[in-house]
Amino acid sequence: MCRIIAFIIFTTLFTSSSLKKSSVKDVVTKKDVKLFEKISNSSGRPVYLIVRHDGYPSEMYNVTTQDGYKINLLRIPYGKSKLNPKILRRPVLIICSYIDPLMACLNLQEDSLPYVLADAGFDVWIGDFRGTNLSSHVKYNKTDSKFWDYSHDEVGYYDIPAFIDYILGLTRRRRLYYVGISYGTQVICVALASRPEYNQKLRKIAFLAPTVVAGHSKSEGLMYSAMLSGLAGDVLGKMPRKFPGVENWGAEYHRLCNSNSTKLQVCPTFYSKQANVLANPEYEDRVKYRNLMAGRRSISVKMYVHFFQQLRNAKFAHYDYGGTENQKRYGTKKPPLYDLKKVCVPSITVYSDGDEFAPPEDAETFYKSLNKTAQGPLIRIKDTNFVHVDIIMNRTARKLAYEPLVSYFNL
Ligand SMILES: *[C@@H]1O[C@H](CO)[C@@H](O)[C@H](O)[C@H]1NC(C)=O
Ligand SMILES: *[C@@H]1O[C@H](CO)[C@@H](O)[C@H](O)[C@H]1NC(C)=O
Ligand SMILES: *[C@@H]1O[C@H](CO)[C@@H](O)[C@H](O)[C@H]1NC(C)=O
Ligand SMILES: *[C@@H]1O[C@H](CO)[C@@H](O)[C@H](O)[C@H]1NC(C)=O
Ligand SMILES: *[C@@H]1O[C@H](CO)[C@@H](O)[C@H](O)[C@H]1NC(C)=O
Ligand SMILES: *[C@@H]1O[C@H](CO)[C@@H](O)[C@H](O)[C@H]1NC(C)=O
Ligand SMILES: *[C@@H]1O[C@H](CO)[C@@H](O)[C@H](O)[C@H]1NC(C)=O
Repeated sequence: MCRIIAFIIFTTLFTSSSLKKSSVKDVVTKKDVKLFEKISNSSGRPVYLIVRHDGYPSEMYNVTTQDGYKINLLRIPYGKSKLNPKILRRPVLIICSYIDPLMACLNLQEDSLPYVLADAGFDVWIGDFRGTNLSSHVKYNKTDSKFWDYSHDEVGYYDIPAFIDYILGLTRRRRLYYVGISYGTQVICVALASRPEYNQKLRKIAFLAPTVVAGHSKSEGLMYSAMLSGLAGDVLGKMPRKFPGVENWGAEYHRLCNSNSTKLQVCPTFYSKQANVLANPEYEDRVKYRNLMAGRRSISVKMYVHFFQQLRNAKFAHYDYGGTENQKRYGTKKPPLYDLKKVCVPSITVYSDGDEFAPPEDAETFYKSLNKTAQGPLIRIKDTNFVHVDIIMNRTARKLAYEPLVSYFNL
């Protein structure tokens, strides 16, 4: 049961109800089954090999955070152009989603943002923060509850600065560029608000589909999840643990919803929306395939609970441990808010009308909350068909979001 609830929460987070409705029967085809098989087969394939397969150089690095997590960076040092690969390139750090920060960035094959940036002359680094399959800890193994004792607070306070310092040290640069997509927008704001000295280490930021300020989400899935977590979160959150059973939601879905033995109510209700994303004929097989692979990761319960606290309270605050524990940790009954005025790196913000996770109201509130010095171009994609995940799954994103971003970085 726990696995099923986990699965529902996990999958609904990655869905969008603005897509055309159709029944699950319509969308699970023989071809999809083949696709799932392929995914199961490539489970162990390292992402850096996928990058090489796409024709780009790639390297893996690991970094140890101040609190002992070993986390990873995928580097694409230069693009396909014949320019001298040795010339100095401006480093850019990308944090892409929380589902699988490495794979999620590469959904669009040659149109994927990391490749676009590499071809535009950047030295691209993709951060894979704590909790993923690749990460580990110097002291705790993954069966240890201490390993899973983290929320956005720790990812932002430790992992992002560790990535930044590592890249600056290795490239001997003074500052780098940063791209945050969805979850990646939150963790950089945590980093800059809690360690403002890092503002000096960043040249420019791109916020794509910012989820920092939440409160206007219209996604039913999110609301159900927020409610569920309201019931379960305060209990589960007390005992740090891994979020159960969702390392590969693609295969999980296949198992739960596509076999004759299970007729789970949740499949059409919760999953058809996600299945519709994948069934959309405009998405090619390889995009679908990669997107499904991007389900392979693990995550802490606290990270989810934090996410839903944010949604319920419509506040960008530290993790809420409850009155007594908050008092102990923060000295206040309520968790302190992150001050977005401390984010003062010049930035570009891109959001869209069809985005239910980062709806225009929230994106604009977020933009206005930033320090004046950070308020650069604000780009609204006026298309209700352009949803949250389209930033990383829809080729149109290359024109609508990536090109303005690259121009802004090149100014
Ligand atoms: C999966 O791997 C097995 C063993 O390597 C192979 O026989 C099978 O054809 C593969 N399936 C797909 C769909 O690639
Ligand atoms: C991390 O670093 C260690 C020691 O250099 C190395 O053995 C290991 O393969 C690295 N891991 C990754 C994923 O690169
Ligand atoms: C990553 O996942 C693969 C496939 O599920 C598994 O075989 C491997 O042991 C995992 N690696 C780590 C470091 O957890
Ligand atoms: C992980 O750590 C726990 C507690 O420290 C220990 O009991 C367990 O044997 C370890 N498991 C592995 C696979 O090392
Ligand atoms: C499910 O049942 C149908 C009809 O009985 C059958 O044709 C099909 O092969 C079954 N599928 C699976 C995956 O067992
Ligand atoms: C806004 O940014 C400016 C320039 O970096 C800085 O001096 C100021 O303290 C910031 N405002 C707040 C409230 O942090
Ligand atoms: C991709 O984005 C465009 C522009 O916003 C939108 O009209 C289109 O429906 C999207 N395609 C898919 C497959 O969602």
